[in-house]
Amino acid sequence: MINSYFSETTKVMKSSLIRELVAATKNVPGLISFAGGFPSPATFPKDVLSKLYAEVVADEGKDVLQYGASEGDAQLKGELLKWEGYTNLTPDNLMTTVGATNAIYYLSRAVLNEGDVILCEAPTFLGSLVVFDALQADVQSIPMDNEGIDLNLLTEKVKQLRQAGKKIKVLYTIPDFQNPAGISMSLKRRHELLNYCLRENILVMEDNPYSRLRFSGEELPTLFRIANDEMQHPFLVTEIVSFSKILGPGMRVAFAKGNPELINKMVSWQQKVNITPDCVTQRVAAKYFAGGHMNPHIHLICEFYKPYLDKMLDCLNSEMPGFVQWTKPQGGIFLWLWLPEDLNADKLFFSAKDHLVTFIPGSKFYPEGQEKYNCMRLNFTYSSIEQIETGIKRLAQLLKSIYV
Ligand SMILES: Cc1ncc(COP(=O)(O)O)c(C=O)c1O
Repeated sequence: MINSYFSETTKVMKSSLIRELVAATKNVPGLISFAGGFPSPATFPKDVLSKLYAEVVADEGKDVLQYGASEGDAQLKGELLKWEGYTNLTPDNLMTTVGATNAIYYLSRAVLNEGDVILCEAPTFLGSLVVFDALQADVQSIPMDNEGIDLNLLTEKVKQLRQAGKKIKVLYTIPDFQNPAGISMSLKRRHELLNYCLRENILVMEDNPYSRLRFSGEELPTLFRIANDEMQHPFLVTEIVSFSKILGPGMRVAFAKGNPELINKMVSWQQKVNITPDCVTQRVAAKYFAGGHMNPHIHLICEFYKPYLDKMLDCLNSEMPGFVQWTKPQGGIFLWLWLPEDLNADKLFFSAKDHLVTFIPGSKFYPEGQEKYNCMRLNFTYSSIEQIETGIKRLAQLLKSIYV
């Protein structure tokens, strides 16, 4: 039996619950899915990218088809530094990775011992929970209000954990258009959180795949920008930026920036795991920046997505019964529904499938033992406008029929 060969960590590793749930609803004719976290394929800049891939391989193949640098392509790093405009940072502050997923892994791997505490928002991104779990970290989640992570609850939790002799190393946060809740941290909360973490010697891991996907409202500075520009503590924060929802997740382009010594350790992990991210794709991304395509493309995506978000918010408003509440993001790709305490979205998932609509039950976004069951995540970037209208009607009808 191959099972007897598996390491202890592999034996207890959970399969991707979301993938299983999505698989359970695959091939159901007429089903409308708000479950996945997919960007719309209509936003992928296929024409420019196909031209750049051809050019890069033809003109620079001698270089980019060779093994590359573990810290990432120098041209891409140069473009990223220019794009973000930090005058005090150098290429040593930055590495490129195979998606944000790898950066989250390398950072966690570089700092967490088994049993070390990592703090996060409740709910949070399942992919990161899986990483923290694989490293056998002690994951402690703290509820959010409309302005982001609740600082009173955070303070209380940190006190309790320290009294119990726990070592708290990192706070993991997704400040903009959070996955799964769609909440953006207010400016005031950003400052308060950073000051708190500085005082308490807690490193901040800022996961940022969505801040550029803002369709309305005022742009907020990232935690990294505040720590760097206003607090003169740039390395309190390590920021991870992904281009999955901008260029397409298949390209797997992302980067991390922060303390050069920490980045250097993360690069050592990348060297062991990958040797290097895909050199061809990194150079294509560099040329995409150099050709001035990135910012206009982001502008187009935001214009493209806004009607989808507006439609979902309008339909929720007109269709949902009064006992349902939801977040109202100004960007990103998800929003979050709260149901009455005694409704369980894990169970609802199966009846929703019979009503030809699907979502991810909210409980999947909490560390084990800390779950909430009366909530769900909805994605608004993959279904058509018509599907959003019909799907929300179906969900609302189901909720009205089971809860009076
Ligand atoms: C908050 C968050 N972090 C990280 C990722 C993973 O991004 P990538 O495709 O760059 O690995 C996602 C993807 O959905 C996400 O929502």
